[in-house]
Amino acid sequence: MRAVINNTDVAAPLGSLDEWEDDVLDRYPEPDKAFRDYAAEVRPSVKEFYRLNHTYQTLDFVKAKKQQYCGLTLVEKSIWEAMDFLNTLVDDSDPDTDFTQIEHLMQTSEAIRRDGHPRWFILTGLVHDLGKVLCLYGEPQWAVVGDTFPTGCRYSDKVVFPEFFKLNPDFQFPEYQTELGIYEPGCGLDNVHLSFGHDEYLYHVAKDYLPEEALYMIRYHSFYAWHREGEYQHLLNDKDREMLKWVQAFNPYDLYSKTLVRPDVVGLRPYYEELIAEFFPEKIRW
Ligand SMILES: [Fe+2]
Ligand SMILES: [Fe+2]
Repeated sequence: MRAVINNTDVAAPLGSLDEWEDDVLDRYPEPDKAFRDYAAEVRPSVKEFYRLNHTYQTLDFVKAKKQQYCGLTLVEKSIWEAMDFLNTLVDDSDPDTDFTQIEHLMQTSEAIRRDGHPRWFILTGLVHDLGKVLCLYGEPQWAVVGDTFPTGCRYSDKVVFPEFFKLNPDFQFPEYQTELGIYEPGCGLDNVHLSFGHDEYLYHVAKDYLPEEALYMIRYHSFYAWHREGEYQHLLNDKDREMLKWVQAFNPYDLYSKTLVRPDVVGLRPYYEELIAEFFPEKIRW
């Protein structure tokens, strides 16, 4: 069965989840690529997506979604079953030019593999977006993808479309709008409620199986205000500062691995099945 995400749905302004990632790529182009005027090129669908994301991702919403999903009580599945499941997510993007979710995962992992990185790093590339199955559980796009940001404290103006935060009910709570908000200085990102999405969910799915560096890559890969803009320093602890280099090492593979060549998913499967089995048990909880 194919789950079609239809952009006539008011909660689904994006024609495809890739539209968010393509927009991130416009904001953070590969070094040496031609300069583009980001503000002039941003798509109306992406802008509407961020309006919804910034309006509805409140501290209470984040806590409720963690409660709902992060106890992993939904289902037991192997990694490959989850990849197949994620691939049933079809949006109204162009099937001839857009890659499937598995193809994006394999382009990322193959680029990491080509550069000779350790096996856990390659595996991280393969699984990093599996949290997008949240869309197939009925979550709206704005609760699954998008740059993540801390809730419960003042919003950085380095988060994309900061003007939309005025629409967030938390904006009216003075205690949430100080620099630290509800947090202690240097509390560490583990204690910060980032806006909810595929990063946080997959972190909980993978946390017993992958090394700490991999878990940072997974949990914070959409936190651009931190790993690209250097914001929220007052919330970091020593561990976060030490792990930042791994999150930054991962990001170019996620953003810049889309080539014109489709990965040979069938041919590569035996290699990846073996790699998955090295770290994960046959079935894991989702
Ligand atoms: Fe992602
Ligand atoms: Fe990705």
